[in-house]
Amino acid sequence: MRRPFVAGNWKMNKGPKEAAALAGQILSEIAGVNNVDIAIAPVAISLASVHLVLQNTNLKMAAQNMFYEESGAYTGELSPLMLNEIGCKYAIIGHSERRQIFGEDDELINRKTRAAISHGIQPIVCCGETLEERESGSTNDKVAFQVKAALSGIRMEDASKITVAYEPIWAIGTGRTASPEQAQEVHAMIRNLLAEIFNSAAADQIRIQYGGSVKPANIEELIAKTDIDGALVGGASLKADSFAAIIKACV
Ligand code: 13P
Repeated sequence: MRRPFVAGNWKMNKGPKEAAALAGQILSEIAGVNNVDIAIAPVAISLASVHLVLQNTNLKMAAQNMFYEESGAYTGELSPLMLNEIGCKYAIIGHSERRQIFGEDDELINRKTRAAISHGIQPIVCCGETLEERESGSTNDKVAFQVKAALSGIRMEDASKITVAYEPIWAIGTGRTASPEQAQEVHAMIRNLLAEIFNSAAADQIRIQYGGSVKPANIEELIAKTDIDGALVGGASLKADSFAAIIKACV
């Protein structure tokens, strides 16, 4: 049995004070909730204030992005060593906004994924197709290509540290969710692919999150699907009550 994993991607919202306050509200909403892994991904400048609130709790922290080098002349980037120091257990890698707006390509995403693992940070590797790709029937090809590229060179013994987040781009921030059947179909394809890349025992351990307009109203039917192991939540993670409702539905 895979333990469900729900992560909130706050994107470019909530500076240090607001982020710490929201983290505190989430903690009180989820008090006593067990059997689910939970993380929030504040904007980089808020990691330090959120870390203070989360110490010794079951709410873990994720970075929204990470560079693959430890230090040096990389203006504006975040090092895996720094993310370790500030208490990030996870890092979101290759989000579609990073790919589309900031031009991240599959090779860069692979380097970041490998660097996260070698520094003990668990990568949440994002993949997903555009609306045009879905409509032209190339969803599986696109997602399979992204997953293979991102995980290239990852060793079998590190497989269980990986989370894959399937986020169809047309469902992100649009209020338009993939149907549970559409999501399950892609998740099953990803799991088969993971079995090819590693083996089926490893593929059975890897959590595959769904992301794209996840809300309290649609999480139950999504999480009921065999290969949907949790959610990567954007908008609905910015309110403690809706994020907590999503988490509780996954227990
Ligand atoms: P929304 O939940 O706002 O659609 O965002 C999804 C997402 O991109 C999470 O990474």
